[in-house]
Amino acid sequence: MSRHYQIVLLPGDGIGPDVVRCAVEVLDEALAGTGVTVSYSTHLLGGAAIDQTGEPLPEATKEALTSADAVLLGAVGGPKWDRGPGHLRPEAGLLALRKALGVYANLRPVKAFPALLSASPLRADVASGVDVMIVRELTGGVYFGERETGTLASGERFAKDTMYYTESEIRRVVQMGFEAARLRRRKLTSVDKANVLDSSRLWRAVVEEMKEDYPDVTLEHGLVDSCAMHLVTRPQAFDVIVTENLFGDILSDEAAVLTGSIGVLPSASLGSGAGLYEPIHGSAPDIAGLGIANPLGTILSVALMCRYSLGLPEIAARIENAVEQAISAGARTQDLALPGQSHLSTDEMKEAVRKHLR
Ligand code: IPM
Ligand code: MN
Repeated sequence: MSRHYQIVLLPGDGIGPDVVRCAVEVLDEALAGTGVTVSYSTHLLGGAAIDQTGEPLPEATKEALTSADAVLLGAVGGPKWDRGPGHLRPEAGLLALRKALGVYANLRPVKAFPALLSASPLRADVASGVDVMIVRELTGGVYFGERETGTLASGERFAKDTMYYTESEIRRVVQMGFEAARLRRRKLTSVDKANVLDSSRLWRAVVEEMKEDYPDVTLEHGLVDSCAMHLVTRPQAFDVIVTENLFGDILSDEAAVLTGSIGVLPSASLGSGAGLYEPIHGSAPDIAGLGIANPLGTILSVALMCRYSLGLPEIAARIENAVEQAISAGARTQDLALPGQSHLSTDEMKEAVRKHLR
């Protein structure tokens, strides 16, 4: 069997180019001998794109997306572009990219590595065995709603953002949540703020209507504030969490610390077309160019790409195992090292993973 896929690489800003390069090398190594071949084309996104074209998501990048089977993204943003108007910031390019791809469900698996427990700020008995999948709505809600900044007649400035959802936007991502739970421990926690927000009351009503179709999944509803607390007091209680865009953004960064470092966390954004794969961490301008960034979040993102876009679940598991073995053997980038522990460069960490793939 031979199959060929087109992968668009969007290295972006800061540490993005470094971690994407490492993940591509790992993917090439993992695909060798599988009969699956890939070709890469690299395009501009974010601050790098603003510098070269004046736009965070240039036409040429959009054009490349139309023939892509999967997209691998590094990170966008940095202090250099923080002063521009909202629509000309690197982050606007990322939001437009997600919208252009129609990737409405963002899967963020958070799994504790036993060897990294000491790097977690939580007590080992709380953090051990954590295995949560956050399904975040990605193309709706307040990040995409109507917004306005202006001045009242009185001269006072105001700004507003709108959290807007239609029931079909809710239904399709909640369906991903139920289906993800079916492949795991069959528990779904739907998170909202239904005690205050209309959009959350609609969210909860739609979830209630859908639950009959999933009698094998245990459903619970939670409020986002209490869920934030439970994520750090009893994280083992969660299997799959499904929630809207803003809540998912915040909860997934919070959940990231459970594993010891946000640097190890991957994500997959799925819709009806090409999938988008990116680490959860940002562009980390403070360490860009130093060669010390952790490439594992991006390496684990290409594992997710193998699983969800390339139809290669066994290769995905091989990459995940290689990462686990590298960590168990003591490989640590700076973000994972304890005080006094020696640490690897970005490239050395990538080589530590490749070694376990061979
Ligand atoms: C993320 C990031 C982005 C988001 C930013 C950079 C727009 O924080 O992927 O979580 O909020 O979605
Ligand atoms: Mn975020």
